[in-house]
Amino acid sequence: AATRYEAERAPATCDGAIDTNHAGYSGTGFCNGRNAVGAAVQFTVDAPQAGTATLVVRFANGTTAARPASVTVNGSAAASASFESTGTWAAWTTKTLTVPVRAGSNTVRLSPTTADGLPNIDCLDADTGGTGTPAPTG
Ligand code: GCU
Ligand code: CA
Repeated sequence: AATRYEAERAPATCDGAIDTNHAGYSGTGFCNGRNAVGAAVQFTVDAPQAGTATLVVRFANGTTAARPASVTVNGSAAASASFESTGTWAAWTTKTLTVPVRAGSNTVRLSPTTADGLPNIDCLDADTGGTGTPAPTG
Protein backbone atom coordinates (compact mmCIF):
# COMPACT_ATOMS: atom_id res chain seq x y z
CA ALA A 1 0.00 0.00 0.00
CA ALA A 2 1.17 3.50 -0.71
CA THR A 3 1.21 6.55 1.54
CA ARG A 4 0.30 9.92 0.05
CA TYR A 5 2.42 12.97 0.77
CA GLU A 6 0.97 16.31 -0.30
CA ALA A 7 3.36 18.92 -1.69
CA GLU A 8 1.47 21.70 0.12
CA ARG A 9 1.71 20.11 3.55
CA ALA A 10 4.70 20.15 5.91
CA PRO A 11 7.18 18.59 6.19
CA ALA A 12 7.13 18.89 2.40
CA THR A 13 8.71 22.09 1.11
CA CYS A 14 8.00 24.05 -2.06
CA ASP A 15 10.43 26.59 -3.48
CA GLY A 16 7.62 28.66 -4.93
CA ALA A 17 3.95 29.15 -4.16
CA ILE A 18 1.19 26.86 -2.99
CA ASP A 19 -1.52 27.49 -5.55
CA THR A 20 -5.10 26.37 -6.12
CA ASN A 21 -5.89 27.97 -9.47
CA HIS A 22 -5.74 24.81 -11.58
CA ALA A 23 -8.44 22.27 -10.73
CA GLY A 24 -7.95 18.60 -10.15
CA TYR A 25 -5.32 18.63 -7.44
CA SER A 26 -5.33 16.36 -4.43
CA GLY A 27 -5.47 17.84 -0.93
CA THR A 28 -5.64 21.61 -0.57
CA GLY A 29 -3.34 22.79 -3.35
CA PHE A 30 -0.20 22.12 -5.30
CA CYS A 31 3.34 23.45 -5.52
CA ASN A 32 3.94 25.96 -8.28
CA GLY A 33 7.71 26.05 -8.15
CA ARG A 34 9.67 29.08 -9.20
CA ASN A 35 10.73 28.85 -12.80
CA ALA A 36 14.43 28.42 -12.14
CA VAL A 37 17.12 25.77 -12.01
CA GLY A 38 17.13 24.19 -8.54
CA ALA A 39 13.72 25.49 -7.43
CA ALA A 40 12.87 22.20 -5.76
CA VAL A 41 10.04 20.35 -4.12
CA GLN A 42 11.07 18.15 -1.23
CA PHE A 43 9.10 15.38 0.41
CA THR A 44 9.86 13.47 3.59
CA VAL A 45 9.05 9.81 3.07
CA ASP A 46 8.95 7.33 5.91
CA ALA A 47 10.01 3.76 5.22
CA PRO A 48 9.60 0.83 7.61
CA GLN A 49 12.79 -0.74 6.34
CA ALA A 50 15.63 -0.15 3.94
CA GLY A 51 14.93 -1.24 0.39
CA THR A 52 13.48 -0.01 -2.84
CA ALA A 53 10.57 2.40 -2.89
CA THR A 54 8.16 3.07 -5.72
CA LEU A 55 7.35 6.77 -5.91
CA VAL A 56 4.43 8.05 -7.96
CA VAL A 57 4.69 11.80 -8.54
CA ARG A 58 1.51 13.57 -9.63
CA PHE A 59 2.12 16.64 -11.77
CA ALA A 60 0.82 18.94 -14.50
CA ASN A 61 2.79 20.68 -17.19
CA GLY A 62 0.67 23.02 -19.31
CA THR A 63 3.52 23.98 -21.60
CA THR A 64 4.66 22.08 -24.67
CA ALA A 65 8.19 21.43 -23.40
CA ALA A 66 9.22 18.76 -20.91
CA ARG A 67 10.57 19.96 -17.58
CA PRO A 68 13.40 17.67 -16.53
CA ALA A 69 14.47 17.23 -12.93
CA SER A 70 17.00 15.36 -10.89
CA VAL A 71 15.75 13.19 -8.05
CA THR A 72 17.85 12.86 -4.95
CA VAL A 73 17.18 10.71 -1.91
CA ASN A 74 18.91 11.74 1.29
CA GLY A 75 21.18 13.93 -0.80
CA SER A 76 22.30 11.26 -3.24
CA ALA A 77 21.35 11.16 -6.88
CA ALA A 78 18.74 8.45 -7.25
CA ALA A 79 16.90 9.03 -10.53
CA SER A 80 16.02 11.58 -13.12
CA ALA A 81 12.61 12.46 -14.45
CA SER A 82 11.41 14.22 -17.56
CA PHE A 83 8.06 15.74 -16.73
CA GLU A 84 6.53 15.93 -20.17
CA SER A 85 3.69 18.17 -21.31
CA THR A 86 0.26 17.19 -20.04
CA GLY A 87 -1.48 19.60 -22.41
CA THR A 88 -3.03 21.97 -19.88
CA TRP A 89 -2.29 22.99 -16.30
CA ALA A 90 -5.48 21.26 -15.16
CA ALA A 91 -4.47 17.94 -16.72
CA TRP A 92 -2.69 15.98 -14.01
CA THR A 93 -0.80 12.77 -14.59
CA THR A 94 1.75 10.63 -12.81
CA LYS A 95 5.38 9.67 -13.18
CA THR A 96 6.67 6.56 -11.44
CA LEU A 97 10.20 6.42 -10.06
CA THR A 98 12.06 3.62 -8.30
CA VAL A 99 14.57 4.73 -5.69
CA PRO A 100 16.51 3.30 -2.77
CA VAL A 101 15.42 4.27 0.73
CA ARG A 102 16.71 3.67 4.23
CA ALA A 103 14.69 2.69 7.26
CA GLY A 104 13.05 5.73 8.82
CA SER A 105 12.83 9.21 7.38
CA ASN A 106 14.00 9.92 3.83
CA THR A 107 14.21 13.23 2.01
CA VAL A 108 13.12 12.94 -1.61
CA ARG A 109 13.98 16.05 -3.57
CA LEU A 110 12.81 16.90 -7.08
CA SER A 111 15.11 19.59 -8.43
CA PRO A 112 14.61 21.10 -11.89
CA THR A 113 17.62 21.15 -14.16
CA THR A 114 16.44 23.87 -16.55
CA ALA A 115 15.34 27.48 -16.15
CA ASP A 116 11.70 26.49 -16.73
CA GLY A 117 11.65 24.93 -13.28
CA LEU A 118 9.45 22.03 -12.28
CA PRO A 119 5.99 21.29 -13.54
CA ASN A 120 3.27 21.96 -10.97
CA ILE A 121 3.65 19.19 -8.37
CA ASP A 122 0.56 17.89 -6.58
CA CYS A 123 1.61 14.99 -4.40
CA LEU A 124 3.74 11.91 -4.11
CA ASP A 125 2.52 8.38 -3.37
CA ALA A 126 5.23 6.22 -1.86
CA ASP A 127 5.10 2.46 -1.60
CA THR A 128 7.91 1.47 0.72
CA GLY A 129 6.55 -1.82 2.01
CA GLY A 130 7.33 -5.40 1.39
CA THR A 131 10.73 -5.00 -0.19
CA GLY A 132 12.61 -6.39 2.78
CA THR A 133 11.12 -9.86 2.56
CA PRO A 134 12.08 -12.03 -0.38
CA ALA A 135 9.19 -13.52 -2.30
CA PRO A 136 8.66 -17.21 -1.56
CA THR A 137 10.00 -19.58 -4.17
CA GLY A 138 8.93 -23.04 -5.24
C1 GCU B 1 1.54 29.40 -15.43
C2 GCU B 1 0.68 28.49 -14.56
C3 GCU B 1 1.43 28.06 -13.31
C4 GCU B 1 2.76 27.40 -13.72
C5 GCU B 1 3.55 28.37 -14.57
C6 GCU B 1 4.86 27.78 -15.08
O1 GCU B 1 1.79 30.60 -14.74
O2 GCU B 1 -0.51 29.17 -14.18
O3 GCU B 1 0.62 27.18 -12.54
O4 GCU B 1 3.48 27.01 -12.60
O5 GCU B 1 2.79 28.77 -15.70
O6 GCU B 1 5.15 27.93 -16.27
O7 GCU B 1 5.59 27.17 -14.29
CA1 CA C 1 5.90 27.30 -11.98
